[in-house]
Amino acid sequence: MATIVSTLSFALLMLSISSAASNALSLNYYDETCPQLEYAVTKAVKKAISNDKTVPAALLRMHFHDCFIRGCDASVLLESKGKNTAEKDGPPNISLHAFYVIDNAKEAVEALCPGVVSCADILALAARDAVSLSGGPTWEVPKGRKDGRLSKASETRQLPAPTFNISQLQQNFARRGLSVKDLVALSGGHTLGFAHCSSFQNRIHNFNARLDVDPSLNPTFAARLRRVCPAHNKVKNAGSALDSTSTTFDNAYFKLLLQGTSIFSSDQALLTTPKTKALVSKFASSKGVFEKQFVKSMIKMSSITGGQEIRLDCKVVR
Ligand code: HEM
Ligand SMILES: *[C@@H]1O[C@H](CO)[C@@H](O)[C@H](O)[C@H]1NC(C)=O
Ligand SMILES: *[C@@H]1O[C@H](CO)[C@@H](O)[C@H](O)[C@H]1NC(C)=O
Repeated sequence: MATIVSTLSFALLMLSISSAASNALSLNYYDETCPQLEYAVTKAVKKAISNDKTVPAALLRMHFHDCFIRGCDASVLLESKGKNTAEKDGPPNISLHAFYVIDNAKEAVEALCPGVVSCADILALAARDAVSLSGGPTWEVPKGRKDGRLSKASETRQLPAPTFNISQLQQNFARRGLSVKDLVALSGGHTLGFAHCSSFQNRIHNFNARLDVDPSLNPTFAARLRRVCPAHNKVKNAGSALDSTSTTFDNAYFKLLLQGTSIFSSDQALLTTPKTKALVSKFASSKGVFEKQFVKSMIKMSSITGGQEIRLDCKVVR
């Protein structure tokens, strides 16, 4: 009898652990509990974009940072508290902004269906809207993420750095179950937004012991970057757009990459293996092929779950 009871309770325990850990996502997760959710999020994102064209890039990068640290659990949204320094106050936070968009969306959603929708789901939806409202593809976002309780600045070290080479990038993505194809497609997120000088100065000053400038950069382009970002740059917000059409979601990023006019070493690194280079060429030659893979890879990245509760205020845990 004792064995039967303990076997049974063990089975129940395993069942509850696996259901807590998997938080299976689904397309119709809020159909009953919050049918107006997506409309409310889209409305908040549209309103913010109408005042500030940098919002879509910010939302896309915010979601990527969220998913790469502790899974997509809205850890990126938490504020530092007491002795704890949160992710958003960690070193590579330099371009993170527009957190207010998520707060506004959450407020609207709480008014419609209190205590039901996670901040992590709102961020995933906002990132999708950011892409589609910038001229990119749209897709159905699987939902049911939970919010986490921890956010640590020290963990932003787990994010890929712009100085990474292809093996470092590959490893960093593989640790999250993302393939080389996902790496190349998601790097296409750099079709939107801006980079500060500090993020690419390794390529334009003191590149290595012999050369000041990365020889894989187009020389005219390198000269332009050096004018905007001199060696001891003092201009706080100096930098460069990530591609020539930085508020439009398109495949220009891949075309520029092939011409030696990408911004980061990590972008350039995609040309250093035959497999990744072939993917870059494929995406450069077809916006449709790129978009299709981008959507697949976004759904994969945004399905890395991690949290366990629904936060009421996206900035703080209770
Ligand atoms: C492959 C590894 C990646 C590296 C090393 C990387 C690195 C960076 C860096 C250093 C910046 C500029 C920060 C600054 O100077 O302000 C940046 C910006 C950006 N990244 Fe990435 N990133 C990567 C992947 C991704 C992914 C997967 C996405 C989304 C799908 C993404 C979307 C963006 C966007 C949209 C911006 C512009 C943000 C803005 O203008 O507000 N990145 N990235
Ligand atoms: C980034 O971190 C610095 C401190 O490291 C902090 O002063 C700043 O407010 C943070 N920026 C954002 C957008 O959170
Ligand atoms: C990438 O960088 C790492 C760490 O510096 C190094 O060990 C590795 O050999 C490099 N890989 C390539 C392909 O350059």
